[in-house]
Amino acid sequence: MTTRQRGWRVPAALVALSAIPLLAGTARLVELAGGPALIPADTRFAASPLPVVVHIVCAAVYALLGALQFAPGFRRRRPGWHRAAGRVLVVAGLGVTLSALWLTLFFPPQPDSGPLLFVLRVVFGSAMIASLGLGVAAIRRGDVATHRAWMTRAYAIALAAGTQAFTEGIGGAVLGHSPLALDASRGAAWVINLAVAEWAIRRHPVMGAASGTGRRPSVAVVVGERP
Ligand code: HEM
Repeated sequence: MTTRQRGWRVPAALVALSAIPLLAGTARLVELAGGPALIPADTRFAASPLPVVVHIVCAAVYALLGALQFAPGFRRRRPGWHRAAGRVLVVAGLGVTLSALWLTLFFPPQPDSGPLLFVLRVVFGSAMIASLGLGVAAIRRGDVATHRAWMTRAYAIALAAGTQAFTEGIGGAVLGHSPLALDASRGAAWVINLAVAEWAIRRHPVMGAASGTGRRPSVAVVVGERP
């Protein structure tokens, strides 16, 4: 495998992780648009489809476009793309999390969930908004290391939707299917994703980042190479 091909391994893994919720989301959009019912209809979304449609569309943009930001070679070859995509991603990321909070706060909960999932969604949804804000603030002052860390955390929080497909299955088998057990299994996805994000942030530190200088960082700094 060439270095260029190796650079696509992380984005490919991220797209694979988001595949299950994105397929479910596509099925939900088809169903809401009056197409074939690929998944069971949900009367809550049929009565008021806007937040779930915004959520699914923004999540698709955020998950797929966001994965490309983690391809170091692509970022190095196309720094203009990284910046333009980053602007779109901040809007899509806010769309994901604000619609998620809207669904959490104003829609009846899923029948198999309880208060723990409600609290976790509010906490991690708010944490994602804060991470996006801190990531934007960092890059505006030229602090690449901090920007990279907060954007990685924001992406990890969103992609817990994919990890939950696995933790729900394993948690259900081990802990049972009570709302508390399922909520804890879903919550584990955020903990796992953030642990992996912290490991990745520390494993590849950004070298020589222009912290706090207000200067636009060089491409070498952005991709974590020695300038
Ligand atoms: C890229 C990441 C994400 C993807 C791909 C995604 C995907 C989805 C999909 C497909 C649905 C619709 C489920 C259905 O039709 O039954 C959904 C619902 C929902 N999502 Fe997300 N989501 C993501 C991130 C998040 C985040 C970060 C949160 C919370 C912090 C969240 C909270 C919710 C809530 C509350 C619902 C409504 C659940 C219900 O009551 O049935 N999502 N998501």
